[in-house]
Amino acid sequence: MSEKKKKIVLSGMRPTGLCHLGHLAGALRNWLKFQDQYKCFYTIVTWHGFSSEYQNSKVIKDYTFEVAVDWLGVGLDPEKSVLFLQSEIKEHAELHLLLSMIVPLPWLQRVPTFKEMQREITDRDLNTYGFLGYPVLQTADILIYKANAVPVGEDQAFHLEFAREVTRRFNRIFGNIFPEPQTFLTEVPKLAGTDGRKMSNSYGNAIFLNDSPEVTRQKISTMKTDTRRKRKTDPGVPEDCPVFTLHKAFVDKEKRDELAEGCRKAGIGCLECKNVVIESLLNTLAPYRERRNKFEKKPQLVWEILEEGNKKARQVAQKTMEEVRTAIGF
Ligand code: TRP
Ligand code: SF4
Repeated sequence: MSEKKKKIVLSGMRPTGLCHLGHLAGALRNWLKFQDQYKCFYTIVTWHGFSSEYQNSKVIKDYTFEVAVDWLGVGLDPEKSVLFLQSEIKEHAELHLLLSMIVPLPWLQRVPTFKEMQREITDRDLNTYGFLGYPVLQTADILIYKANAVPVGEDQAFHLEFAREVTRRFNRIFGNIFPEPQTFLTEVPKLAGTDGRKMSNSYGNAIFLNDSPEVTRQKISTMKTDTRRKRKTDPGVPEDCPVFTLHKAFVDKEKRDELAEGCRKAGIGCLECKNVVIESLLNTLAPYRERRNKFEKKPQLVWEILEEGNKKARQVAQKTMEEVRTAIGF
């Protein structure tokens, strides 16, 4: 397909530290696949990071670097995709400001992630103007590249619905400037972390792409399994097993079905079952880790790659903003 006709895909990731298996299964694996089919923009959303880390903002730069090397490690390719930093493209801030003037306040007040974060995060004050506007900034990220599709996990579905509503409102008032972005939902189920809760950097339960084979093995070997399986002779329910969420993401279906059957009939032990997912993971991760190490040793190259991406992104963003200003009448 010619460059011009290719659909535009955009997605973003907050700089929260090292990428873990959840990032791989929920986002990066898909992003890799899209690189050859679409014109892809992938951004590290530094300002979104700041909205929740403003009291600890010095970590954002280091986290950004970690995310960048993880991206390059898994094979996101600056020759194919535009890899860039949100905060280097000031036009996102301008579009965010303009959108903020047309977004009705009740739309923001009913965003479930906002309420949820107020409840869950108690060690800092997220009841801020900027944090309320989080989905508006996300909408600006998407619209400024006229993205046709946004690959995200289930947890972002509402934000995408919000972005579409804002798009329709903008287009209705100012003319058809933006395509309505579609959601490319990733079907991967939520991965459990080492403690059985959802895998997340903030829970300290993550298995990182950059963990050594020994650490990966150790983390999974000590994970809790279905509590019904006290002894090897007790049948279990794979659907209730945190480890099996990893099987769903990293073991092929045929082998996985066989293991599930073995679990239900008490035909295999948990150690044996865990070893299958461990081996499969280590195979997947080995080439990533190798490539990652090369980039990690050349920080300057990594920042240069991002700078190149910034330039490409900026060009597109500037062009869009010219259109937007004209449509508004400035
Ligand atoms: N809110 C997203 C998350 O927490 C990150 C994000 C910011 C994003 N801007 C985006 C995702 C634009 C997709 C498109 O995961
Ligand atoms: Fe989990 Fe596998 Fe043990 Fe079943 S056999 S409880 S799926 S680790």
